[in-house]
Amino acid sequence: VDRDALARGPRSLWRYAPLLPTENPSEAVTLGEGWTPLIPVPRLGKALGLHNLYVKDEGRNPSGSFKDRGASVAVSRYRELGIRTVVHASSGNAAAAWSLYAARAGIECVNVLPQDALDSSLVQCVLAGARTVIYAGPWQDSRDVAQAATARHGWFDVMTLREPYRMEGKKTIGLELAEQLGWRLPDVLVYPVGSGLGPLAIFKAFRELQELGWVGDTTRPRLVAAQYEGCAPIVKAWRENRERAEPWPHLDVLPGGLKGARPAGDRALLALLRATGGAAHAVSTSDALAAAAEMTAEEGVFPAPESAITFAAARMAVADGTIRSEETVVLVVTATGLKSIANFAVPPVERLPVGGTITAGVPVGARSS
Ligand SMILES: Cc1ncc(COP(=O)(O)O)c(C=O)c1O
Repeated sequence: VDRDALARGPRSLWRYAPLLPTENPSEAVTLGEGWTPLIPVPRLGKALGLHNLYVKDEGRNPSGSFKDRGASVAVSRYRELGIRTVVHASSGNAAAAWSLYAARAGIECVNVLPQDALDSSLVQCVLAGARTVIYAGPWQDSRDVAQAATARHGWFDVMTLREPYRMEGKKTIGLELAEQLGWRLPDVLVYPVGSGLGPLAIFKAFRELQELGWVGDTTRPRLVAAQYEGCAPIVKAWRENRERAEPWPHLDVLPGGLKGARPAGDRALLALLRATGGAAHAVSTSDALAAAAEMTAEEGVFPAPESAITFAAARMAVADGTIRSEETVVLVVTATGLKSIANFAVPPVERLPVGGTITAGVPVGARSS
């Protein structure tokens, strides 16, 4: 595989087809996912005292979140393998992504969703024709519900770390980061952790790139894991220096992603945090919404609150010395704020009566700076 030939490949994650597990990439189930922009965010950097801060904007993916990567690669491979029905429990974004790609592939998709699933995801699932079931019990049990259906009906379980191909799709974030930084790895990656698959996949990519000799140095970036305070099993285990995370008893998070109360990737993720000298921080839901507002006002990047916790966590990691000012730091914005509109209070806007004119002056909602 020639590193420089990739630049002539498609402007999607399928530019990395030689590093992906499908036999026939020309038959891939694709909607143009991946190859999302890596955006310098100097104003946000200044607010944290960082000189090289970037956002990897995964909100640009077809369904509005990074979940499209795992869905595109895995569904492509399943179609090759003749799999007919996939099933999973999802807080919403993965269900939306899988429903769209399954529809395109002609595969049946069964989603188990929580009671507070956002309409944005629900509509994507249902319009795509996926069988969509809202589970009334505690969300901690949802994986068991989906697994029971797998056993009973012979469906294929696509939940985190139950099969290998989602990870292969998600690793393309890491491949893109390296290529977009001129075949260098960032110093720090800040990621909003649910099940933990995303960072495990990205660091798999970093390892593969080092083995291929495609990235100059051999230093491994540090991982900063961010979670909501109301579902922070990884942060708790990290603080207590444990090897496994305990199930999180009571979820208190915003509707949307990051409901990983029993994160399947806990052991590997905690090992990765230790091995990379990283850190883990928990962010309140009000700080998440405030961070989303600050990112939007300062840089025009409109993240979902789940994704905005990366900015709040980066601030904490600067304060505790995990991140230093000259380092290259990437916040992974895993989903667009458009998937999470219901979580944002609509701010006051000017009302113009019929016949009125728009006056000069500072409009409502303008930046105070
Ligand atoms: C927007 C968003 N960000 C991040 C995550 C966490 O992803 P992972 O399961 O890869 O840790 C999720 C999944 O819940 C999500 O929906």
